[in-house]
Amino acid sequence: MDYNKRRSALTAKIDADSFLVYNMEGSDFPSMYYLSGFTGEGALLVSSKGPLLITDSRYTEQASREVPKIPVRQVAGSYLDEITDAVTASGYGSVALSGVRTSCSLVNKLCDKLEAKVVITEDPVNELRALKEPEEIERIRAAVKLTEESLTELIRGIRVKMSERELALRLEFIMREKGAEQVAFDLIVAAGENSALPHYQPGERLLKEGDLLLFDIGAKLDRYCADMTRVFSVGKPTARAQGIYDIVLAANKAGIAAVSAGADAKAVDAAARDLIAAEGHAEHFQHGLGHGVGLEVHEGPRLSPMSTDVLQAGMTVTVEPGIYLPGFGGVRIEDLTVVTQDGCEVLTSFPKEELVQVG
Ligand code: GLY
Ligand code: MN
Ligand code: MN
Repeated sequence: MDYNKRRSALTAKIDADSFLVYNMEGSDFPSMYYLSGFTGEGALLVSSKGPLLITDSRYTEQASREVPKIPVRQVAGSYLDEITDAVTASGYGSVALSGVRTSCSLVNKLCDKLEAKVVITEDPVNELRALKEPEEIERIRAAVKLTEESLTELIRGIRVKMSERELALRLEFIMREKGAEQVAFDLIVAAGENSALPHYQPGERLLKEGDLLLFDIGAKLDRYCADMTRVFSVGKPTARAQGIYDIVLAANKAGIAAVSAGADAKAVDAAARDLIAAEGHAEHFQHGLGHGVGLEVHEGPRLSPMSTDVLQAGMTVTVEPGIYLPGFGGVRIEDLTVVTQDGCEVLTSFPKEELVQVG
């Protein structure tokens, strides 16, 4: 990864002498890692003069391994004092930071203490991250492959009367056995009526004949996420389940067909949403069609009726239409794509053409 290039792109983008990343308890891990490769806690000051990492004794050895070329300033008292001294010593007249990632508390303290002007921006690092580099795409591809292989292994052993929680646990175990460092998000395993909740948390519900069984899952590998949803039928599908599956599959394909460089995110969303609405299910599909995936499972761009994003080649974007029928169940089919000049490459290859029976 060319961190120098990323930092130069950031300094060219901001309207200030320097940019401050503050990552404590994971508050801005993505920016810290994206701009330096450092995985510990601390503050990173980025400017055209070069980077400076401010960290504490828990991480100085780690910094010497992970970012040997970046100068490190070890915190003696408080982070606030150390950042203030570093900004003063560098002679910066202004410091930009992300208003999305930095707490109001820290912003207030910096405004009080710094002589330099504090410039609160949206999240310029997030904007840079939306456009993936080839190596990032390869890491995401590997995370998708691991996720798919794990689900393939799990479904062979699914039986009636297993619980959602048991399936989620088994799946996470398989992912980790295959080398995942962790799950990209809490795995969603939802049976029957629970599959009507888009962000359901698996519970003690036992599988029974005729249930829809939804898996919204992703592994994290080499720091990059996967995100995929597939739905199965426990035993023979009901006509109602098959009916909504067919509509969602058609909407998923219409959305994928609309993904291309230059496309308005809003129009891609509409390509899938209009199809679902035409089948009388407008009110059963209320979330956005998709989002970027990378270091975080949810990042830019956003596909939704409100989005102003325009797709560019090299962005990743999920296409995940759904129909959710309260009290009955839901279907969502989610694929991860990479935008290309004349369409997209679909990274997800797990079969979706049929509502497959398990159990
Ligand atoms: N896994 C959450 C989502 O698909 O947005
Ligand atoms: Mn998603
Ligand atoms: Mn998902």
